[in-house]
Amino acid sequence: MKLQLEDIKKKTEKILEENFNLDELNEMKVKILGKKGELTNILKEMGKVSAEERPIIGQLANKIRDDLNDIFTQKYQEIKNKELEEKLSKETIDVTLPGKEIKKGSIHPVTKTIMEIEEIFIGLGFEIAEGPEIETDFYNFEALNLPKDHPARDMQDSFYITPDVLLRTHTSPVQVRTMLEKKQDLPVKIICPGKVYRRDDDATHSPMFHQVEGLVIDKNIRMSDLKGVLLAFAREMFGPDQKIRLRPSFFPFTEPSAEVDIACVMCGGKGCRTCKQTGWLEILGSGMVHPNVLRYGGYDPEEVTAFAFGMGVERIAMLKYGINDLRLFYENDVRFLNQF
Ligand code: PHE
Repeated sequence: MKLQLEDIKKKTEKILEENFNLDELNEMKVKILGKKGELTNILKEMGKVSAEERPIIGQLANKIRDDLNDIFTQKYQEIKNKELEEKLSKETIDVTLPGKEIKKGSIHPVTKTIMEIEEIFIGLGFEIAEGPEIETDFYNFEALNLPKDHPARDMQDSFYITPDVLLRTHTSPVQVRTMLEKKQDLPVKIICPGKVYRRDDDATHSPMFHQVEGLVIDKNIRMSDLKGVLLAFAREMFGPDQKIRLRPSFFPFTEPSAEVDIACVMCGGKGCRTCKQTGWLEILGSGMVHPNVLRYGGYDPEEVTAFAFGMGVERIAMLKYGINDLRLFYENDVRFLNQF
């Protein structure tokens, strides 16, 4: 048996001198090392070996199997190297062929609009704040002067995770979060861009959209400050002659509250289809922060006053870039996205 094992090794070593290709080498390997191969056949006789010799033969068999494997690996490498060399010696590269064009991505119009809004407010001395998209009932409603069962909650029906945890319906919860973080520091001048969620879905409403919240707290902040800041913003965003107007409105967390319109960017205020002949387009909600909200944030409404606003980013992007369907933002059609 020892002899048989040594024979099979000698036989295998000859392979190294043969001019095999990969298929032939594989065939050989199966023939010698395969399940029904020659080595297995020899080892079948193991039962006939005497008990003393069995461990010695066993060891030898293992060593021979390793050696055989090494031989096949070596030959495999040789064949591979030879193939590569042949390929390289034949191959010529035509350096005059045009390269493959790599398509460049572009910034999404919503992101781009957020970046533009941020830049304008940073220029006005604001900081960027952030808050979680999964919010508690407390920050989303309660601390904004919207107690449970308040009818105004109906305007912002949301997605609930538990009765007390929901996807935020607006960026306003960041108002109170920021106040608690600032610990009565003054002045506070922040904007907070981010995603918000509502149970709406049609051509002008998406269940997920973006807002930018703004909050300014200091001594003697007045409604005229709000108007001045928003006019400056509108002129940076839409052009130096842009007009705005404030209309009385209602939000539980601001008093007084105002809806802010810009003069229609399509017709300049004359009246057209986009502005439904009114000459104005609504872009945000705003107002003077309600004393209760300041109290929740740890500020004394006798000492300081504040204004806040919340604008819809998609709405501003649609007006700025003349986009007529909200759904285009989320379809990810490159023909649309390429234009930005
Ligand atoms: N959070 C309000 C909304 O989503 C907008 C708003 C923000 C109004 C801040 C007043 C002050 O409709």
